Amino acid sequence: MAILVTGGAGYIGSVMVDQLAEAGEEVVVIDNVSRGHHAALAEGARFYEGRVGDLALVERVCRERAVEACIHFAALAYVGESVTEPKLYFENNVAEGLGLLDGLRAAGVRSFVFSSTCATYGEPVRVPIDEGHPQWPVNPYGWSKFFMERILESYDRAYGLRFVALRYFNAAGATLKRGEHHEPETHLIPNVLAAAAGRLPHVSVFGSGYPTPDGTCVRDYIHVTDLCSAHTLALAYLRCGGRSEFVNLGNGHGYSVMEVIEAARRVTGREIEVRVEAARPGDPARLVADARKAREVLGWKTQYPELDTIVRTAWEWHEAHPEGYGSRGGAGTG
Ligand SMILES: NC(=O)c1ccc[n+]([C@@H]2O[C@H](COP(=O)([O-])OP(=O)(O)OC[C@H]3O[C@@H](n4cnc5c(N)ncnc54)[C@H](O)[C@@H]3O)[C@@H](O)[C@H]2O)c1
Repeated sequence: MAILVTGGAGYIGSVMVDQLAEAGEEVVVIDNVSRGHHAALAEGARFYEGRVGDLALVERVCRERAVEACIHFAALAYVGESVTEPKLYFENNVAEGLGLLDGLRAAGVRSFVFSSTCATYGEPVRVPIDEGHPQWPVNPYGWSKFFMERILESYDRAYGLRFVALRYFNAAGATLKRGEHHEPETHLIPNVLAAAAGRLPHVSVFGSGYPTPDGTCVRDYIHVTDLCSAHTLALAYLRCGGRSEFVNLGNGHGYSVMEVIEAARRVTGREIEVRVEAARPGDPARLVADARKAREVLGWKTQYPELDTIVRTAWEWHEAHPEGYGSRGGAGTG
């Protein structure tokens, strides 16, 4: 029996594929490499280049490889792009997601782990944010994930699909082999490190007047390895017959943008120039997870909760791969 990982050529999916392969699982990847990298694909995984919304492809792959469960990472994930191109986001994240679910259903696959996001909560009314917090996204990206969550609930009720929807806060860090390389890069830590390495002239800090101790936004960063180990636990939970759940993944500890920059200065020993720019509309002051449910339901324990460790692993990867994976989709430096 195999595990289907969609988006396995992307940042988090590639780490997941490595982790599953190391655990002796048979892994099958579907990715259209629209945002990922061929060089990020693990050698042992069977790779099918295509869209997750291609129902016939999904059904064929599931039957050929005897897929028992799917971990669905494939999505577009730029908040800003989703505001200017909402059609793209609803097509790629919702319509394609539906195609995937129907392909799985046709092949009799009933276990599903979904990459959801804290963006489904929108502007928080209380922090830390627990799973019962109201959900009212403030951008089409968040809505696309919110709609997928509601579709999953309905598919559970009607078709017996069991799922764990994991609402990530901020994924960060790297393993020795895999790291974060998005084009363009919008995430803070890789951009801070690009500035430390001299590949960016400065780091832009969006807003310094937030009601936080140093005035910059506070976020909950979680190491990509810890994030993936929660997916492994979610698979085990579903294999044991667990019922469908929504679960936050975060460390439950927030760090401000300036604290991240300070950590990067400590880790790299480099100067990092900071430029304060206007706050971005819809950027909440604090997003911090109440992550107790992940511990209680999945038995999850994080291995790398310290910010310096998260930043150090990302720096080591960037030092070893100064061009990331090379040009997008290409063979790169792997
Ligand atoms: N990175 C974060 O901090 C974060 C936070 C919350 C949620 N998430 C979610 O986690 C998942 C993975 O994020 P990531 O940072 O690894 O993203 P990524 O862009 O690095 O990887 C996504 C992968 O999915 C593929 N893909 C996209 N649409 C596809 C389609 N229709 N068919 C086939 N392949 C397709 C891309 O080519 C890419 O390889 C996404 O669903 C994202 O929304 C990420």
